[in-house]
Amino acid sequence: MEISKKMQDALNDQIREELYSAYIYLGMAAYCESINLQGFAHWMKVQSQEELEHALKFYEHIHDRGGRVILQALNQPPAEYQGPTDVFAKTLEHEQYITGCIHRLYALAVEEKDYASLGLLQWFVDEQIEEEKNATEILNLLKMAGEKGQALVMLDRQLAQRGD
Ligand code: FEO
Repeated sequence: MEISKKMQDALNDQIREELYSAYIYLGMAAYCESINLQGFAHWMKVQSQEELEHALKFYEHIHDRGGRVILQALNQPPAEYQGPTDVFAKTLEHEQYITGCIHRLYALAVEEKDYASLGLLQWFVDEQIEEEKNATEILNLLKMAGEKGQALVMLDRQLAQRGD
């Protein structure tokens, strides 16, 4: 079944959200580099790549369904944060926002009886559980570790291990 115009437009909006997520996280990586937290920067660069993959999943889906991908303008992401805890608090906040976007798309797919999009969106519903969990775990570790000293150095080393 060819994708409806309404669903196509909504998924194009989500491509923008995912690309903007990649942009935000790359900005966070650059901020982390600026305060010498290379492990945090690495984690954020991997996260940014994942968001590009999310955008591509929607891109392929639209094309596979006979639709048209139209890329949209991206806003400038923030450059400054109040430290690593602030970075992860904002990451969690952003992922909660994205979860809301995905849930709205899911509701639209149900309304449109677009069962093909539902399959894709179920993957994203599950992925968002993981995204929020990851951000929450690191945020909690940061709250325990505080923002300086040995614990932060160890956390930086741990985040440097994130695989692609
Ligand atoms: Fe594409 Fe981080 O959600």
